[in-house]
Amino acid sequence: MGKGKRFFIETYGCEMNKSDSLDIAVSLERQGYVRTSDALEADVVVINTCSVRRHAEQRVYGRLGYYRGLKKSGRKDRAIVLAGCMAQRLGREAQRRFPEIAVVAGTSHNLRIPLYLSEYQNTKIPVAKTKLGGYEFSRPEDRRPEGHHAWVTIIKGCSNYCSYCIVPYVRGPELSKPSGDITAEVDALVDRGVTEITLLGQNVNAYGKDSGDISFADLLERLDHISGLRWIRFLTSHPKDFDVDVIRRISGLGKVCRHFHLPLQSGSDRVLSLMNRGYSIRHYMSIVEALNRFVGDFAITTDIIVGFPTETDEDFKKTLSVYEEVGFDDAFTYRYSKRPHIAAGALDGEVDPAVAQDRLERLIDVVRRTEDEKNRSLLGEECEVLVVKKSRKNPSEFLAKTEHGKLVACRPTGGRPTADAPAFGPGSFIRVRIEGISGKTLRGSEVLRRYALSD
Ligand code: SAH
Ligand code: SF4
Ligand code: F3S
Repeated sequence: MGKGKRFFIETYGCEMNKSDSLDIAVSLERQGYVRTSDALEADVVVINTCSVRRHAEQRVYGRLGYYRGLKKSGRKDRAIVLAGCMAQRLGREAQRRFPEIAVVAGTSHNLRIPLYLSEYQNTKIPVAKTKLGGYEFSRPEDRRPEGHHAWVTIIKGCSNYCSYCIVPYVRGPELSKPSGDITAEVDALVDRGVTEITLLGQNVNAYGKDSGDISFADLLERLDHISGLRWIRFLTSHPKDFDVDVIRRISGLGKVCRHFHLPLQSGSDRVLSLMNRGYSIRHYMSIVEALNRFVGDFAITTDIIVGFPTETDEDFKKTLSVYEEVGFDDAFTYRYSKRPHIAAGALDGEVDPAVAQDRLERLIDVVRRTEDEKNRSLLGEECEVLVVKKSRKNPSEFLAKTEHGKLVACRPTGGRPTADAPAFGPGSFIRVRIEGISGKTLRGSEVLRRYALSD
């Protein structure tokens, strides 16, 4: 179908989109397309898009304008595929605005993109498919790990309808992947050298509820038994479904990383209720308490929105104070962005953009200060890290990450590799001592390997 043709993919948005792009790449490669990292030489450009904030869509319009410019200047003709959440939202409207888009493939249509491309090539009629549901999950044997790490989607869609969020409208309702397929997928990935996986879903804690399959905690337990697999992470947890029972069970599992990403969104109960989040600050704090009690040493990161309609300075101060009380390790911080469909769009009490911007900056100050304090407390500590890649800035250093998800630039011990202390590279686990901090990155030195190994 695509024999010898080159494709280029650019991806916006969340980890789910990054993982979807890998699936799209495999489905194109199966039909003979070859991936290129140079958009200019591509015959097909796939833009995998995000709709969550207005800014995310504006970047894509910018890219479409760029490709239009190339076409006008007579550069090579290329078929543009618009995929992902913005494609789902706009459908044919996207092609009315940008007639150069050959294929609009909504979020349930990723694996059929090669088919739509050949339809377009035969007829020259633009294709737009946005019917939601009937998702196809990629086959276990089609999963391509990226080095030692792999994303594993366990649940698609979202049924929560937080009042600020467009995701349920562009991704459809929750749909869990059968647990047998997940374990087969992880087995296959581990056979191909994967040592770390990240389970993906908009609300992983709802796993199995739509299909009557095993629960999220059961799934973690099963994956924990897979030999060869070292670290299991998951994104994203929803505080309303993350309860003490799950935490107690996680605390008994050796491979589940002690790093939890648990979006708070706001520190004010009044705002949380308007956001339709389904939990109170009291509940959130009870989760943190349970993590302290059952897990002990863990990292916790979060997402926060400022400037939600009606948010007062009092509400915002509550967010700051909950932030400090929990002592988050890091946060993604956002200014509320009004989106189509969302219930919050009907609320009066829009926050002045300058006020929202000021709150965002105050919040970021607290995030940076807290992170810095936490990082400083690690100085002198020893920990195990997973080597991710060679540092581009300094070839004698490696970039690695801790179980808590912190980045460490580390120097290996000197000397030649021996049987006691073999050479290491991406995918290896080593012990380092944290010796410094630069910006957000920790700096560490490898602890003598022969000691580490004989310990
Ligand atoms: N499913 C995940 C998050 C998905 S979107 C969860 O429930 O936590 C990622 C983050 O984008 C959200 O956590 C939220 O903080 C932010 N976000 C979503 N809609 C937004 C909007 N309209 N304006 C600003 N931020 C938004
Ligand atoms: Fe959006 Fe809420 Fe669903 Fe997360 S849980 S994707 S914030 S609706
Ligand atoms: Fe992800 Fe953006 Fe879609 S955050 S689910 S790519 S709207």
